[in-house]
Amino acid sequence: MTQPACYPISEAFAARARIGRDDYQRDYAQSVSEPEAFWGRIAQRLEWFRAPTRIKDTSFALEDFRIRWYEDGELNASVNCVDRHLATRGDKTALLFEPDSPDAPSQRISYRQLHERVCKLANALRALGVRKGDRVTIYLPMIPEAAVSMLACARIGAIHNVVFGGFAPNSIADRVADSTSKLVITADEGLRGGRKVPLKANVDAALKLPGTDSVETVLVVRHTGAAVEMQMPRDRWFDAVVNDQPAQCEPERMNAEDPLFLLYTSGSTGKPKGVLHTTGGYLVYASYTHEAVFDLREDDVYWCTADVGWVTGHSYIVYGPLANGATALMFEGVPNHPDVSRFWQIVDKHQVTIFYTAPTAIRALMRDGDEPVRRTSRRSLRLLGTVGEPINPEAWRWYYEVVGDSRCPIVDTWWQTETGGILISPLAGAIDLKPGSATKPFFGVQPALVDAGGNVLEGEAEGNLVLLDSWPGQMRTVYGDHQRFIDTYFKTYPGTYFTGDGCRRDADGYYWITGRVDDVINVSGHRIGTAEVESALVSHPKVAEAAVVGFPHDLKGQGIYAYVTLIAGEANSDALRRDLIAHVRSEIGPIATPDHLQWAPGLPKTRSGKIMRRILRKIAESGSSELAPEQLGDTSTLADPSVVESLVNERLRR
Ligand code: WT7
Repeated sequence: MTQPACYPISEAFAARARIGRDDYQRDYAQSVSEPEAFWGRIAQRLEWFRAPTRIKDTSFALEDFRIRWYEDGELNASVNCVDRHLATRGDKTALLFEPDSPDAPSQRISYRQLHERVCKLANALRALGVRKGDRVTIYLPMIPEAAVSMLACARIGAIHNVVFGGFAPNSIADRVADSTSKLVITADEGLRGGRKVPLKANVDAALKLPGTDSVETVLVVRHTGAAVEMQMPRDRWFDAVVNDQPAQCEPERMNAEDPLFLLYTSGSTGKPKGVLHTTGGYLVYASYTHEAVFDLREDDVYWCTADVGWVTGHSYIVYGPLANGATALMFEGVPNHPDVSRFWQIVDKHQVTIFYTAPTAIRALMRDGDEPVRRTSRRSLRLLGTVGEPINPEAWRWYYEVVGDSRCPIVDTWWQTETGGILISPLAGAIDLKPGSATKPFFGVQPALVDAGGNVLEGEAEGNLVLLDSWPGQMRTVYGDHQRFIDTYFKTYPGTYFTGDGCRRDADGYYWITGRVDDVINVSGHRIGTAEVESALVSHPKVAEAAVVGFPHDLKGQGIYAYVTLIAGEANSDALRRDLIAHVRSEIGPIATPDHLQWAPGLPKTRSGKIMRRILRKIAESGSSELAPEQLGDTSTLADPSVVESLVNERLRR
């Protein structure tokens, strides 16, 4: 039987959906023809100290570049995520915490309790000298304190900088140094699938590295209870500084364009960039997309499996859901602990209605077959979502048929750290689904496809994905380097924002993201810059040069393939290969672990010394099949074409 290429809107779903087919057509048309009227209306969903009257002032033109939304508005993000709900939802669960071990008790934190916890921490931060505009690095596991910490920063106008708990000391140090953070919030240890992550020890190691002296205080959450070294007077127990604080805290009045947070993300060159998001536009966009894309209802139990260390956790665990007064589940653990039914057991235990995860998790669980899913009920589910990378139609169908029992629509949401919120996605009551396609643009979003020369392609086409106009959730700058912001996103195709993604548009106007077209690798939905892995490799004393590319990987989407040239006189060996792989892990973190490392007597370079990654990608992709020279394309511009032959031979011997 051939599989349907299109899944029409579910009538049962559409009957109760917030946004129907006609609503989408009408509102989308208005959102692009009259963006001020549209986004002015949407902004009313938030509580403002001072309502904005100037809605949009944006231009991507290099001559008069500017991105300003709601610029005369004043608000506080924590007030919108917490205080605002006290009158009507004080006893409603804001955060539902499910710990790593199913035997440990889950916790419910009501909006009233969240308010108290946020206020107390905010007061403690102020008492420790943290002021509006100061940066605070947060390096925590997936525990409620992570959300509380973000909101406490927002309350006093401090700019939070969450660092994913899987990053190694070097990566923490880079982010602390670049942001010149005054304070770090961490925990003794994290827990993932029963394994302990030495968070405090990692922070200690990071703060010994150069450039991190801005840090005056480290707050340590006691989580596993492990004995950790406390360095006085720098290190303070979180509870000890928070407990005696007053339960009320005057929120800072923030301008809409005041920074809310920094989040570092990998690009094609250099060190990770500090993506800066501001308060008003970001919160309007995160909350509205969360409500519209997930068709949020008051009684939903919403679960996004992302980590708060990534933008998905920021927008769709913390800011979007809490601004909307939703119940958001936070899960500390992993999908396969203690067994591969864990996700679905949690769905049943907490009667989750909306479930949002990554294709890589779906592919991994799919490998274990239907039974671990089928043995759970999942009747509570009504909507499924994916994010992070293209989803292959096979995984989409398994998610739809097995996880969702062919009853729940799937929203495949395309967006980026830089975009703050979802830009292309189905609205399940309004748009027919096609497995593998993120479908249509969200309100106010104007995608276009351009060829290499920057010509806009019409109709059915494949090209580079750009956005023609701004949306409120857009990043505003690269922290400390505005020029890098402009150079990275607005110079390639002048007048547009370049996403770095390739994309196809079909005859129905549906968008199909094909993946990154720059030197960024998407490993399990996480961005890794090839340059970062290369510099980690080259920092090893035996490595002369390295080049890193992505290759198709069954589970991770893309894997990391490294070519390494040793310094003269060093002999390669399997032990050294393992050593180098471990070196990358300890320099950046486990997510950057190379899957393959191939010895390269030389790298294919042009006469001007530029590495031709196109050729390296072809060799990495080739698998075990014979690689004919013509498959490598034009190699005539290489300084030494014989290099390629030896790399191909080495590849085939693996
Ligand atoms: C890159 C952004 C946005 C949160 C998670 C990743 C890829 C993201 C999809 C999707 C195809 C996707 C793109 C994008 N991507 N979502 N639904 N379909 N590709 O955030 O780390 O900033 O990465 O992830 O390549 O550019 P990020």
